[in-house]
Amino acid sequence: MKNIVVFASGNGSNFETIAAACKSGELDAEVKLLVCDKKGAFAIERAKKYGIETLVLTPKDFPSKADYESEILKKLSTTDIDLICLAGYMRIIGDTLLEPYQGKIINTHPALLPSFKGMHAIEQAVEYGVKIYGITIHYVDSSLDGGKIIDQASLYYDGDDIEYLKEELLKIEHALYISVIKKLLSK
Ligand code: GAR
Repeated sequence: MKNIVVFASGNGSNFETIAAACKSGELDAEVKLLVCDKKGAFAIERAKKYGIETLVLTPKDFPSKADYESEILKKLSTTDIDLICLAGYMRIIGDTLLEPYQGKIINTHPALLPSFKGMHAIEQAVEYGVKIYGITIHYVDSSLDGGKIIDQASLYYDGDDIEYLKEELLKIEHALYISVIKKLLSK
């Protein structure tokens, strides 16, 4: 059985998909911890439902990013972690976490990287008029939505209904994230 830690900042639907896949046995893994940087994020409620421990920290309460991440590291160091999955975690990971977990931190992003990095990726793509949307799962480096791509999935859409697009892409994202995690954990 492998150990996963998930980082999230908001809604947490990807976090819950991973938690559910572990619970059902689809993933031979356990979510040991949810790390969240936003008090009141819905992801925390979802964690309670699954009985998953949460570490909720407010970065502003720390003198520096390194201090904030050191506090996370202190907690992570108590467990043997196979994979850290960023799931709507809206922060760049610094060296404090990247160095000890090199090659073990992955992220999902709702665009075909390297296009449309950062916030509001779907809105950026609609504004640009693209026709092929998608999801990218990638290793994490110290840049915004950067790092080697592991897998991608695409969706052709010729329209501007952002809510429809978000819903469709989220379904694709959930399936892709689970399939990538499964592959990485079986290596
Ligand atoms: C997801 O679509 C994820 O790809 C995106 O935030 C959403 C979080 O949804 N992440 C980024 O944009 C990272 N740059 P969720 O909280 O329901 O899982």
